[in-house]
Amino acid sequence: MLSLFHTLDVQLREAMQRAFPDAKIELNPQLAPASKPEFGDFQANGALSLAKLLKQAPHRIAAAIVNQLQDDASFNAICLKPQIAGPGFINLTVSPDRLAAELAARLGTERLGVPTVDSAAPIVVDFSSPNIAKEMHVGHLRSTIIGDSLARVLEFRGYPVLRLNHLGDWGTQFGMLINQLKQIAPKALETADAVDLGDLVAFYREAKRRFDEDEDFRNKSRNEVVKLQSGDPVSLNAWSLLCDQSRREFQKVYDRLDIRLNERGESFYNPYLPAVIDDLRSANLLVTDDGAQCVFLSDVTGKGGNPPPMIVQKRDGGFNYATTDLAAIRYRFASAPNGDAARRVIYVTDVGQANHFAGVFQVATRAGWIPEGARLEHVPFGLVQGEDGKKLKTRSGDTVRLSDLLDEAVGRAEDDLRSRLKEEKRDETEEFVTQVASTVGLAAVKYADLSQNRLTNYQFSFDRMLAMQGNTAPYLLYTLVRIAGIARKAEKERGSQPASVSLQLSEPQEWALARELLKFDNVIIEVEEELLPNRLCGYLFELSQVFNRFYDQVPVLKAKPAGFASRLALCRHTADTLQCGLGLLGIPALERM
Ligand code: ARG
Repeated sequence: MLSLFHTLDVQLREAMQRAFPDAKIELNPQLAPASKPEFGDFQANGALSLAKLLKQAPHRIAAAIVNQLQDDASFNAICLKPQIAGPGFINLTVSPDRLAAELAARLGTERLGVPTVDSAAPIVVDFSSPNIAKEMHVGHLRSTIIGDSLARVLEFRGYPVLRLNHLGDWGTQFGMLINQLKQIAPKALETADAVDLGDLVAFYREAKRRFDEDEDFRNKSRNEVVKLQSGDPVSLNAWSLLCDQSRREFQKVYDRLDIRLNERGESFYNPYLPAVIDDLRSANLLVTDDGAQCVFLSDVTGKGGNPPPMIVQKRDGGFNYATTDLAAIRYRFASAPNGDAARRVIYVTDVGQANHFAGVFQVATRAGWIPEGARLEHVPFGLVQGEDGKKLKTRSGDTVRLSDLLDEAVGRAEDDLRSRLKEEKRDETEEFVTQVASTVGLAAVKYADLSQNRLTNYQFSFDRMLAMQGNTAPYLLYTLVRIAGIARKAEKERGSQPASVSLQLSEPQEWALARELLKFDNVIIEVEEELLPNRLCGYLFELSQVFNRFYDQVPVLKAKPAGFASRLALCRHTADTLQCGLGLLGIPALERM
């Protein structure tokens, strides 16, 4: 409907211009999708804001616009007679012919009405980004799932997307890690082969304990940092062993979830750190405070009060997390060869880092690194909580390991499936069970996360995410399976159907479904703008419900030949839309479940 929307927007502007040729302001129809189906397809609220300026009743203004519209043949070719509602809203209903034609043009196409952007600068999506030698926790899981979905939507729109994994692979903690490695596994440093360092998280904990308790260890560790940063080959080797091991662990999670990421850890920006300091100095932003180089921030939260200054270079010459992020921004917006030439950079992390990013964005802007019109956005999300509303923990109180969490989702999906098969007296192969359970289990975890408004904390509940009813992955997958079944049956009972059909929409349930299907392009553009994947989930859920209502109330397989082909085409288009939408959420479809 997007193209119709734009056409109508232009027609309304012109009608307003004709109705009020002397108005010396921009005439904006304020066109929007109708807030309720009984208002038609679109509504224009512009008469209301014009009323004050023109000192006329809004209703009169609306009537004047409508008069002009009705004289416009190209408008009449699209809409029925406009209706004025309330104080002066103009309700527009697209004519049935036009709607059917719009939908017919989308049937069987790959893009389902979603336009591609033509000339597009790269977009960076910085997501997942766990830390070497530390556990990848549920916060990273949220970032991974949300970031991947946003990247998929942007890619579908045609943008070149850089999916960057900003791994925490640099910094002072490596001093103690390398020191520990040298002491407990000196052999590991001599081979080029992959070595298993065992549980890296326990390894980290032990190194930290010794760092806190043992002065000698502490000094050696500090020395290690200096060696690493000056490029000492043995230290670098130890560092890369640690990174390799973590990388292998992270990759297991990415593979399972079908996530593509390009690793570009903090260490990548190391060579660009001095230039950050130089730039800040020449922009007169640097202040030396107690030997450290700082930038004083103006209020970043908007809540008043003075935020603490951002330390960009410590007294000992070392750099911080924030300095690396400054270097990353500078690099991402800069042109090649030492830059990505991006025009939009998106960070997906928990809301706890909101102040960090607000500060970093402010400094980057003041340093002049953000090109005109470029966008820099933090996409924050809330905490993952257990069903008790507290931080997610295992029964024994430990932090939940991601692989355990995914295993449990798949295990429970398998139990549900087996009992359903038994109930339905179906006999399926083990291969079928394993494959369906794994798809459903992982889909449930992803969808539960994506379907929440990401800003709110999210309560993790296996029971809720695996339910076959409600706004869940199993419900949507089941709708798809249902449609696949209809198509198989149709083929069996009535033979294969020609690819092109003429749509014949008569029943209100058919119209409702057609209108819902036509919203897909708008929803995708909305997600591109607002970066809220839950909008797409809400749409797919609504679409499934509208479809199920249609299928329960209108005969498809038993319809007369002409109606049959048209209804089957509606089914097929619903399946295509659901499949495409789920794909953008990182969820594969199933033929049977
Ligand atoms: N490694 C960080 C963490 O685990 C997240 C990094 C997010 N990205 C960034 N450019 N700062 O909290």
